[in-house]
Amino acid sequence: MRVMPDLFALAKPVLHALPPEPAHSLTIASLRAGLGPRNSRPDDPILSVDVFGRRFANPLGMAAGFDKNATVIASVMAIGFGFVEVGTVTPRPQAGNPRPRMVRVPGQSALINRLGFNNDGADVVRRRLEQCRRPGPVGVNLGRNRDSADPVDDYVHGVRQLGPLADYLAINVSSPNTPGLRDLQRQASLEPLLTAVLAARTESAGGVPVLLKIAPDLEAADRDAIAGAAVACGVDGLIVANTTVTRPQDIPADLAREAGGLSGPPLMALSTALLADMRRRLGAAMPLIGVGGVASADDAYAKIRAGACLVQLYTGLAYRGPRLVGQIKRGLADHLRRDGFSSLMQAVGSAA
Ligand SMILES: Cc1cc2nc3c(=O)[nH]c(=O)nc-3n(C[C@H](O)[C@H](O)[C@H](O)COP(=O)(O)O)c2cc1C
Repeated sequence: MRVMPDLFALAKPVLHALPPEPAHSLTIASLRAGLGPRNSRPDDPILSVDVFGRRFANPLGMAAGFDKNATVIASVMAIGFGFVEVGTVTPRPQAGNPRPRMVRVPGQSALINRLGFNNDGADVVRRRLEQCRRPGPVGVNLGRNRDSADPVDDYVHGVRQLGPLADYLAINVSSPNTPGLRDLQRQASLEPLLTAVLAARTESAGGVPVLLKIAPDLEAADRDAIAGAAVACGVDGLIVANTTVTRPQDIPADLAREAGGLSGPPLMALSTALLADMRRRLGAAMPLIGVGGVASADDAYAKIRAGACLVQLYTGLAYRGPRLVGQIKRGLADHLRRDGFSSLMQAVGSAA
């Protein structure tokens, strides 16, 4: 067996000596230059998942926000991910919020970001998706422009432009950094939005599955409204959850005051509890993607047992590097066999 050097262990002191956003840009540039790791080992068949009319060789996906502009899909898949979600993409390109807008919380291996949907816009991303190699399923996460006159139009535009090129669409109504965006999760706004999005999907984007990405900071009334609208409108799944605007007590006070969404381990318990709650409200028929704070195989397995058939991560990768992906996959397969499951799908929701 060839022993690969752990390049991330060498690169991490350099990356973490930089502020987080330049470190991310350098990571993307390295992946674009072909310097990323290559994991050519086939996935353990126990990890394969059939959902949304697609086969996922393993359940671990790169969460939205890492490859916002669809520039490194094949390189991210080569790390060993089973799928990639690109975006958030808005109809028109936009610069996002003023810098600095990303902060490390090193003691908790967490991040706070207030990027505000900086992205190249739907036309550019569309061209990239038309041309790129796609070794596995690619989700496209859609948002609205900050200065949009009609948010519903923005999502419909995204569905028409990018739906035909996606394996699934994620309707992002949960980023905390676009004023008013999270209000779209309220009943009065959500049903009209989903009705328009699903009509556009049927007209122009074939049968592409449409998922709703929700915030972890939801009151019971909002959860009821989301579950009701998801079923009434015929949404294909939920992504639970985006970053939190809450600040768990162990975050140092100076960092806790930074505006934006918190991600990483402090989000694990909150997002997994919401996942279990949405599973309880919606039952096994509504596929759920679990995301928030995954930094180990135990975390990924907890999401699956709480009701997720697919699991995403982002912040864990920034602190632990690409080896985390292989470690989680091996650990997950071990957990499944130890608990007597012969496929991952059998374990979904088993904690309920
Ligand atoms: C720097 C950064 C940028 C993000 N950008 C987006 C985004 O554009 N759209 C989105 O839906 N989620 C975005 N997210 C949220 C992640 O997709 C994910 O829901 C969240 O970070 C929780 O997962 P994690 O704890 O594994 O990072 C972003 C997260 C981070 C850390």
